[in-house]
Amino acid sequence: MAEKETVGKILITEKEIVKRAKELGRQITRDYQGEELVILGTLKGAIMWMADLMKNIDLDTRIDFVSASSYGSSTTSSGVVKITKDISMDIYNKNILIVEDIVDTGTTLKYLKAYLADRNPKSIRICTMLDKPSRRKVDLQADYIGFQVEDLFIVGYGLDYDQKYRNLPYISYLEPSEI
Ligand code: IMP
Ligand code: MG
Repeated sequence: MAEKETVGKILITEKEIVKRAKELGRQITRDYQGEELVILGTLKGAIMWMADLMKNIDLDTRIDFVSASSYGSSTTSSGVVKITKDISMDIYNKNILIVEDIVDTGTTLKYLKAYLADRNPKSIRICTMLDKPSRRKVDLQADYIGFQVEDLFIVGYGLDYDQKYRNLPYISYLEPSEI
């Protein structure tokens, strides 16, 4: 079989992502020593990063998922956020680590953080695989960041373009002419 062509231009390889997940997993383990942790993945984009990360978190953990969508066109997010799948556990007095694929304008996470804070958890932090700081529109800072990226349209390793490419085992970007 012929070698498969890559989608877009590769920015970060699987090996680099796995290495970074190990580093951050260890740091999170140190930071929460003696504490319990709820690892809250955001569907669908965060699943690969969450899987890599949590293998390296050596604490008493539970996992859950939430899905928040910011509506807009397929490549830019609007300011309107809707929770389309709610958390399924009681987070009162729990340490919550939101695991996200990418922080772009920051709108989604700012909303999600406030939404969760209403349920009085003990703490809320954010671990994002990617951060696009140049695009930020609201005041939102992740506590743990895998990689910073330029203002590019990223796909792969959970990230989609029109729901495709989430399965790619690398992070790449599409040219404006491709989207
Ligand atoms: P924000 O609310 O603008 O921070 O948008 C966050 C969400 O938009 C992410 O969780 C992604 O689902 C999506 N998103 C932002 N940038 C990209 C990208 O470059 N590629 C794919 N999805 C993206
Ligand atoms: Mg997302």
